[in-house]
Amino acid sequence: MLELENMTVRYGKHLAVDSVGFSVAPGEIVVVLGANGAGKSSLLKAMAGMVPPEAGAVLRLHGRELTGLPAHEVTNAGIALVPEGRGVIGRMTVEENLRLGATPARARDAEEETLAQVFDIFPRLAERRGQWVHTMSGGEQQMVAVGRAMMSKPDFLLLDEPSLGLAPIVVGDLFRALARVRDTGVGLLIVEQNVRISLRHADRGYLLEAGRLTGAGTADELMTDDAVRHAFLGGDM
Ligand SMILES: Nc1ncnc2c1ncn2[C@@H]1O[C@H](COP(=O)(O)OP(=O)(O)O)[C@@H](O)[C@H]1O
Ligand SMILES: [Mg+2]
Repeated sequence: MLELENMTVRYGKHLAVDSVGFSVAPGEIVVVLGANGAGKSSLLKAMAGMVPPEAGAVLRLHGRELTGLPAHEVTNAGIALVPEGRGVIGRMTVEENLRLGATPARARDAEEETLAQVFDIFPRLAERRGQWVHTMSGGEQQMVAVGRAMMSKPDFLLLDEPSLGLAPIVVGDLFRALARVRDTGVGLLIVEQNVRISLRHADRGYLLEAGRLTGAGTADELMTDDAVRHAFLGGDM
C-alpha cells in the first residue's frame, strides 16, 4: 500500500499543494484530475523526493515511512516517477534509455527479465531498440519513459500527465499499455487533465483544485460529477 497524509508544498509564500492525502493499493489505478497549475506536478515531485514537503507530511510504502528521502532512495524503495515531459535522453538508444532505469539494487538481478516484460507490453520498443530516442514520435518517447520507470521494478508508478501532447489514438494505446502494467500488480498514480481517457482506465480518482483535494469517487462517479464537469468545462469532457 502507498499512503500519503497531509502533503503540503510551498514555493516561498505560494501554497502549491495543501494538506493532500490518499492511498493507492497494489494493482490499482488512481487518477488525480487537475487543471493547469492545480499542483499535480508538485504533488508527484514531493512524493518522489524531488521537492521538499512541509513538515507534517507522511509518505508510507508498505508501512515504511519514506518522507524526506532523496529521490534515488525513494526509487530504491519501490516508487518510480515518469516525469512531465518524459525526461528521456534523446541521444541514446531505446535500449540504453531503458537500461538506465535498472540502477536500483532491487532491479539489477532481474534486468533482462524486466526488459523482456517491457518489450512484451511495448512491442514497438522492441522493434526500435537500437534507434535514437530523439528520432522517435512523442508517443514512442512516452513509452520509453514508462518502460524506463518499469525497469526499476517499482511497486508503484507515478505518472505526470502521460497524455500531454499526444494524439488521441496514441493516448488510447498508451493507457491500454498502462492497464497491462497494472495487471502485473503495480499500483499506478496518474495525474492528468485528460479526464475522459484517464477515468476510462482508472479505478478511482480525486479532483485537485488550487492544491486541495475537492472531490473523490470511483471513475464512474467522477465521470458524471458536476464538480469535475465544472472544473474541466470547455476542456476534454
Ligand atoms: N519551482 C517553482 N517555484 C515557484 N512556483 C512554482 C514552482 N513550481 C510550480 N510552481 C507553482 O505552483 C503551482 C502548481 O504548479 P504545478 O505543480 O506545476 O501544477 P500542475 O502540474 O498541476 O500544472 C503553480 O501556481 C505554479 O506556478
Ligand atoms: Mg504539471
